Amino acid sequence: MLRSIRFKLTLWYSTIVAVTFFVVGFATYQFVSRMLNASLDQSVTNEVQWIAAHMEKQDERQESAANMRDEIQEHSRFSPLKEYVEIWDTAGHIFYQSRNLTGDTLAHYLIAPPDHRWLLETPTNFRDHDIRLAFNKTSRASIYLAMPTTIVTSALSELLNILGWMGPAVLVLAVLGGFFLARKSLSKVTKVTEAAKRITADRLHDRIPETAVDDELGNLILTFNEMISRLDASFEQMKQFSGDASHELRTPLTVIRTQLETALNSKVSPAETKMIIARCLDEAIRMSGTIENLLLLARSDAGQVAMKADRVDVKELMVQTYEESVILASQKSITVTLQKADPVTVQGDEYRLRQMLLNLIDNAIKYSRQKGAINLRLVREQNAARIIVSDNGIGIPEADLPRIFDRFYRVDRARSREMGGAGLGLSITRWIVEAHGGTLSVKSDLSVGSEFTVTLPVSG
Ligand SMILES: Nc1ncnc2c1ncn2[C@@H]1O[C@H](COP(=O)(O)OP(=O)(O)OP(=O)(O)O)[C@@H](O)[C@H]1O
Ligand SMILES: [Mg+2]
Repeated sequence: MLRSIRFKLTLWYSTIVAVTFFVVGFATYQFVSRMLNASLDQSVTNEVQWIAAHMEKQDERQESAANMRDEIQEHSRFSPLKEYVEIWDTAGHIFYQSRNLTGDTLAHYLIAPPDHRWLLETPTNFRDHDIRLAFNKTSRASIYLAMPTTIVTSALSELLNILGWMGPAVLVLAVLGGFFLARKSLSKVTKVTEAAKRITADRLHDRIPETAVDDELGNLILTFNEMISRLDASFEQMKQFSGDASHELRTPLTVIRTQLETALNSKVSPAETKMIIARCLDEAIRMSGTIENLLLLARSDAGQVAMKADRVDVKELMVQTYEESVILASQKSITVTLQKADPVTVQGDEYRLRQMLLNLIDNAIKYSRQKGAINLRLVREQNAARIIVSDNGIGIPEADLPRIFDRFYRVDRARSREMGGAGLGLSITRWIVEAHGGTLSVKSDLSVGSEFTVTLPVSG
């Protein structure tokens, strides 16, 4: 439970909301506190300035002191906040004191000595509440004016109160919201998991139902389905491969068995027995060839065939295989010509490259008529060696061309078997070419002939 993504998402979501709330709450508190204090300071300052200006004006008009006191008292009545006012004259006597100060003097509460021109303080020992006290010394008088700070502190404690109960409420909402959000977005994942669980090795044709939405989950399903398709294809390939392989091995075995049963018949003459044994040997040779090829392909699939990286003189290799092929082709009176052999070396495995060439020449001989012609060419290009094996044999139908490199694929099964082919030669050839970083291509016209081209990178 604690490890589930749902739990983690909820935890993250709640933590982020809680931290955001705390930061916003703290910033709001600071801002409101600063604003209220500034506005209180402004009020106190305005009042002091008004009194100072007023006294100066009254002096100019030479009005009586009583008149001046009345006007100051009248002015403070209209102040939106309670004011404490005290004015001392230059002789050191109290010139004016607001009634709410009777028996007390504001001058006592000033923290700094009154030899400054302007002071703004918050004494904490004034009656039962704090005040903001301003002091202004003019040429005519010393003005003390204070206002209670309760307006600021009560507003701030109210704000703190609101934030205090909103915090837990926001946290509960965040936990619930996070939990539902996580559950909603993960419910689809659960569905995908269940659908994926149902797809077993023998149900690889099934797919996870795709959603129309092109979101992360849609992409995940698509990727899953593509992966299952690939698995399906390779399972099919494996099934096909093992089916074909057992078929290929069963056929020669059946032939051997039938032949041996015939030989056991007492009426068979010694000459006939010899012929039967020769036929069995033929089948056994063919079978061991097929098994060898099958093993090679299986090992190459598993990456167990080490490919050498020697410098191979392809011209020499070409000349040698040409000489061998002249002998092989002579049985069908086929003429082999080495039309061109440029000097070229590649990096690779000589044994495998020879096997590749012999496979192509073997096909050219097998699928050509008597007295046919085979042409070999080795052309050096800028960065590549091009080996071309062409014949004027039976050719390959266009529809079969893309499949002739598949394992066990033969254009005419019956005919190829007659000639001893299992359909593995070109698969091995393609594997060798690709392991050397090259490409293998084919051009063919039915009844005209075929041309196989191997392109290998040149080592320099
Ligand atoms: N030169 C060619 N001319 C005509 N058909 C060809 C030629 N080369 C290959 N093919 C066709 O391609 C098929 C596959 O060739 P591949 O060499 O893989 O198998 P194979 O020759 O039948 O058997 P194997 O090579 O295993 O003995 C052949 O059965 C044949 O039908
Ligand atoms: Mg072949």
